[in-house]
Amino acid sequence: MADNEGNIEADNFALDVKAKSEAFYLKGLQNADWGVKSRMSRIFNRKSGRAVMLAFDHGYIMGPTRGLERMDLSIVPLIKYADCVMCTRGALRTIVPPECGKPVALRWSAGSTVLTELNDECLIDIEDAVKLDACALAPMVAIGGAFEAKTIQNLAKTADMTAKYGIPTLGVTAVGKELGRDARYLGLACRVITENGATFVKTYYCDEGFEKVVAACPVPIVIAGGKKLPEAEALELAYKAVNDGAAGVDMGRNIFQSECPEAMIQAVRAVVHENASPKDAFEMFNDLQHEIKKL
Ligand code: 5RP
Repeated sequence: MADNEGNIEADNFALDVKAKSEAFYLKGLQNADWGVKSRMSRIFNRKSGRAVMLAFDHGYIMGPTRGLERMDLSIVPLIKYADCVMCTRGALRTIVPPECGKPVALRWSAGSTVLTELNDECLIDIEDAVKLDACALAPMVAIGGAFEAKTIQNLAKTADMTAKYGIPTLGVTAVGKELGRDARYLGLACRVITENGATFVKTYYCDEGFEKVVAACPVPIVIAGGKKLPEAEALELAYKAVNDGAAGVDMGRNIFQSECPEAMIQAVRAVVHENASPKDAFEMFNDLQHEIKKL
């Protein structure tokens, strides 16, 4: 047992070296807790400050969506290319190998499907998120929708619960026919989500004024890809979003419904982390696709 006898006296205080006090590399998070920063730095690349998150949580409202019929076959081979996986706890437990080493953003609200009214959701128990080693919890927030109050409360409760454990909250702007997609709507939604406690925000890209949506959102924004587009257009969407200030993508259908998902996710990575132009990224997609399909 250690005692005070015979210990060498401490004398290495480097009195001439000032203690470091560095700003955190992600927007708006300098005052976040250590656990939050640690988990965010598992998701967001330290060098580019961006992330390619692979979203395959669609089944929780849409059932066996195209490309997700057999997630064990379609999603597992893509995981190695993602900086983070975004999914439900059901998908995580059934198909994501725990040894993959990727941070997980868990879909953290549920309660309705495309067969009824979307966004009438409640929250899942935080203890399960801790058990699953979640790096972020993602509740849906339907600003301007019929369940606005309920979903903002869900967000605020998630932020309170996650704060106890140092887990980031990813506020997700909801999908819904009645909900907008222009800069005015997205700017309002992202700002409300942040002011109610989100650590980062997932939203949609809009062609006009997205840079203002990003500027007025005090924390990082990642964009969803939305409905499947031709690959060249999806790469352009990713390019424009990061160019306008997004901190990456949380993309689903435009990756797993691609002609060649494995090539697509690598091309998206080139755009997000290396600022590859949409043209170069599309060429990369085509080259990789040929190689992969030859195998
Ligand atoms: C809706 C969601 C989705 O379930 C999903 O993650 C969206 O991904 P994509 O639009 O790229 O398919 O979060 O807000």
